[in-house]
Amino acid sequence: MSKRRLEGKVAIITGAASGIGEAAARLFVENGAVVVVVDVQDELGEKVVASIGPERACYKHCDVRDEKQVEETVAYALEKYGTLDIVYSNAGIIGSYKGILDLDMASFDNLIAVNVAGGAAVIKHAGRAMVARNIRGSIVCTASTAATRTGLAAHAYTVSKHALLGVVRSASRELGMYGIRVNCVSPLGVATGMSCTIPGIKRFRLDTEFVETQMAAVSNLKGMVLKPKDIAEGAMFLASDESSCINGHNLIVDGGFPETSNIYPIEIAKTIIPLLQWSFNKCISTCSSVLSILVPSYMYSILFDQNKKVPAKAF
Ligand SMILES: NC(=O)c1ccc[n+]([C@@H]2O[C@H](COP(=O)([O-])OP(=O)(O)OC[C@H]3O[C@@H](n4cnc5c(N)ncnc54)[C@H](O)[C@@H]3O)[C@@H](O)[C@H]2O)c1
Repeated sequence: MSKRRLEGKVAIITGAASGIGEAAARLFVENGAVVVVVDVQDELGEKVVASIGPERACYKHCDVRDEKQVEETVAYALEKYGTLDIVYSNAGIIGSYKGILDLDMASFDNLIAVNVAGGAAVIKHAGRAMVARNIRGSIVCTASTAATRTGLAAHAYTVSKHALLGVVRSASRELGMYGIRVNCVSPLGVATGMSCTIPGIKRFRLDTEFVETQMAAVSNLKGMVLKPKDIAEGAMFLASDESSCINGHNLIVDGGFPETSNIYPIEIAKTIIPLLQWSFNKCISTCSSVLSILVPSYMYSILFDQNKKVPAKAF
């Protein structure tokens, strides 16, 4: 049996109800940790815990935009498991696809609140708890390849991940003095709820295989298909004692994505995405209108005898 790399550790993972966070929760537990699964999607989060097993994981609702909830989540983990060795701040959103000329300031603020302030609040309260208890813990954040490059994602998202990397680097210097490490893992596109959704089209989901093929095509590592578990492996390395001399590092997991590539053509996205949103929503509303006439008529026709207007035989 391979060595369990997080044996006996207690971890909090935010954004763990789906995608990369969920994969990390499973991997951390397989490697001997107990995990507090944190998210705002309560039903999904509870399902993740149920499938892992409640003896190795538990769920805690926490919106990382609310500092009080973050503080309470750290206190909850300490109360339940007695210590806190690892905090993986992974919750994030993609926000609006718009460029700087059309920036929606409300959506920009919300993106910064989740991706940057949320991450900072998690580091703050995890750091406080570790400093107070003399724990040489490890804090890991999920940044992105968009944290060090432009042209890979929409403007606001790119800005938020650049800022998050700044938070990680700056905090690592301060917390390093207490023996606490702060690092981040930076994925290229991975097929998850976030990357398979087009903003503004709620019911539409890109095919997982389609997203994976697009990402594999831009990477130079032959045969690479980036999965949430690959990012979780990077996070686990940074969380484990194997990286005990690594601090303030940005671990890029991108299959050797070439420096010069630019996969987010903002000009095209600005035209195509609203068009897609409009046609998809139009199609849904047209289908709903047609169905709203057809379904009741059909139900009526099978429930009632059309000639006598009395309940049919089956009734
Ligand atoms: N999927 C990618 O291609 C990709 C690439 C680079 C970086 N990332 C980053 O990886 C992280 C995980 O994303 P994912 O791809 O697994 O997407 P995902 O949507 O599957 O997971 C994100 C999770 O964060 C949770 N969340 C959102 N807002 C929250 C809040 N305010 N408080 C608590 N939880 C909240 C969501 O409910 C969700 O479960 C994000 O930080 C994202 O920016 C993803």
